[in-house]
Amino acid sequence: MRLSRRGALASALALAACGRQAAAGPEPGPLKSLARFPIGVAAMTGQFDDLGWSELVRRQFGRVTPEWEMKTEALAGPGGYDFQRPDSLVSRAEAMGLKVHGHTLVWYAETSREFERLDGQKQAYAEAYRAYVTTVAGRYRGKVTGWDAVNEPLSDDGALRDCRWRRNLGDGYIRLAFLHAREADPAAPLFLNDYDLETRPAKRAAFLRLAEGLLKAGAPLTGVGTQTHVNAALEPGAIKAAVADLASLGLPVHVSEFDVSVKVGQLAALRAEGLEQRQAALAAETVEAVMRLPQRQRYGITLWGARDRDSWLRRPPEDRGLIRDRPLLFDDNGRPKAAARAFAGALS
Ligand code: XIL
Repeated sequence: MRLSRRGALASALALAACGRQAAAGPEPGPLKSLARFPIGVAAMTGQFDDLGWSELVRRQFGRVTPEWEMKTEALAGPGGYDFQRPDSLVSRAEAMGLKVHGHTLVWYAETSREFERLDGQKQAYAEAYRAYVTTVAGRYRGKVTGWDAVNEPLSDDGALRDCRWRRNLGDGYIRLAFLHAREADPAAPLFLNDYDLETRPAKRAAFLRLAEGLLKAGAPLTGVGTQTHVNAALEPGAIKAAVADLASLGLPVHVSEFDVSVKVGQLAALRAEGLEQRQAALAAETVEAVMRLPQRQRYGITLWGARDRDSWLRRPPEDRGLIRDRPLLFDDNGRPKAAARAFAGALS
């Protein structure tokens, strides 16, 4: 019997629902209490006023990473830097007993009018760069547990990305970011953070070489982050291999933006049950990968969203299709999924 597309989707949604039903049940013990290392979550200021979000985050997580508020474009106001948003996020987090991981001082994807105006004026650009990094890092000195000093410096093939920072400051912009951040905050761990280190061996090798080069050049690199935005088709063991490779530097390792997309192929919902189980297995693997590290290298695991509905993959431009992604541990209503149980099980 040929299943019509509508029939296929209806059965898929039923399957997905029963999959979710199966995962319902008592909430696993707070993740932050089960873990011997920080369990973080991406946060935007407006979410603190959403009771569903804030109650789940209060129960389950011990740290937040600003998804947007500490990025260059969020800080850049018409007359200089406007810290109202990040200050608000920090004070809301502190009021909930949550620590904050700073994200991110220098990222190829963001700039400001000031830097665009200075494009090509090397001396002025360098002075503005130092002023920007020291001002932001200095403002949150003692308020963040660490910084993504430089985010996504590498292209998919492992080459240094072309970006405005590099065009004006040379390859040394990365080392300068670490030096300026350390100048403003003598204590915060400073991270180099990137993505697809699980699936692109050349990029991971280049990341390790870049980190080693920074250390040799005396840059105060004191942590490495692997974003771990993966999908449910990822082969078992890839996350463990990436974390172990990064840990070979001897520095603290941060699984910094974990999510597992289940939109694998067009009719992902058709295989919902299988994908949810794959997602759960990858969640457990990620915990196991960090548990294998010595305690001093366990900077933590940060989920890039609390509930599926909070995920960046549910917002344009990432969310483009008919099937809505379910990449996180808790469903749209904050109920634990199989991934939450597997994550909690691996912690305990
Ligand atoms: C994303 C946010 O989740 C989106 O809300 C925002 O519109 C764009 O940035 N890698 C990163 C994060 O380091 O800063 C990105 O966050 C996701 C990819």
